[in-house]
Amino acid sequence: MINSITIRRPDDWHLHLRDGDMMRAVLPYTARQFGRAIVMPNLSPPVTDVEKTAAYRGRIIAAIPAGLDFTPLMTCYLTDTTDPMDVARGHSEGVFVAAKLYPAHATTGSAHGVTDIAKIYPVLEKMQAIGMPLLIHGEVTDHHVDIFDREAVFIERTLSKLVRDMPELKIVFEHITTRDAADFVIDGPETLAATITPQHLHINRNAIFAGGIRPHFYCLPIAKREEHRLRLREVAVSGSRKFFLGTDSAPHSVGAKESACGCAGIFGAPYAIESYTAVFDEENALDRLEAFASENGPRFYGLPLNEGTITLHRQSHQVEEKLTAAGEDIVPFHAGEEINWRLGLK
Ligand code: DOR
Ligand code: ZN
Repeated sequence: MINSITIRRPDDWHLHLRDGDMMRAVLPYTARQFGRAIVMPNLSPPVTDVEKTAAYRGRIIAAIPAGLDFTPLMTCYLTDTTDPMDVARGHSEGVFVAAKLYPAHATTGSAHGVTDIAKIYPVLEKMQAIGMPLLIHGEVTDHHVDIFDREAVFIERTLSKLVRDMPELKIVFEHITTRDAADFVIDGPETLAATITPQHLHINRNAIFAGGIRPHFYCLPIAKREEHRLRLREVAVSGSRKFFLGTDSAPHSVGAKESACGCAGIFGAPYAIESYTAVFDEENALDRLEAFASENGPRFYGLPLNEGTITLHRQSHQVEEKLTAAGEDIVPFHAGEEINWRLGLK
């Protein structure tokens, strides 16, 4: 039995850090594990231009705990009125690593998102020309479509056409949750990749309703049936270069989650790498963890691999029921559960 594993330092290719006290409280969890993270721009108000994004990056850098080497990779929030030249300027100045497409009202903080993808075709053409990745929250917002079908219908109605129309555009299909999405990515061109979260590898939709309603397992896209979780596990550990780590860690206070209208989002950052390692271990694929966590992402983005390493030990420990962040209680993913792996101190 393998009792410890050392891998190249991983990155998180999909992270919500928030701002202010919450950002300062949650950032250390990520920076202790990951060398870089793609930081989502769905603040309130959203981060839609170069200056706001550079200022946000500055606040994050100022909050990195002493002694930790961490680089935030910033994204531009696309709206119906995003100017292609601003996006290109932000990219050439090294502020925007990628741009994020939220269909308007698809999820938390997406009210200013794109109402019709046709409106941003000039931006996407520019991104294609300069090699800037597009990150997509892939769900339709049509409330007539069942919530469990919104990802599959997005592929049918929007993503298939986009991939055909923009053959050179690098696209990351974020936080995929279905067999349909996994297969679409596998069958698609080299320019198409996907992130997979720990929660979609660990839970199916039953978890949200086990013995009562469980708001801490509610995120968007929502967890699906077991067959989808199993397919995601298969592709994550398959060795395919098209799939990589993206936690979608999305902290909300207990009050905002345990509410008559609770927020979507799972706070996966605290034990993220341990959580993924447990999955690869269960699938007898620890030898493929490094590619998924530390290589496929930077290769897709065209960035260098991290230099350092981390070591994980087989060591069972119980995850806290609650953590405190910015004076609020916050419930981490795996709260109260045992995890069998622990990130070693160097
Ligand atoms: O569950 C989610 N929470 N999904 C998202 O797409 C956004 C995120 C958040 O910002 O809370
Ligand atoms: Zn997200």
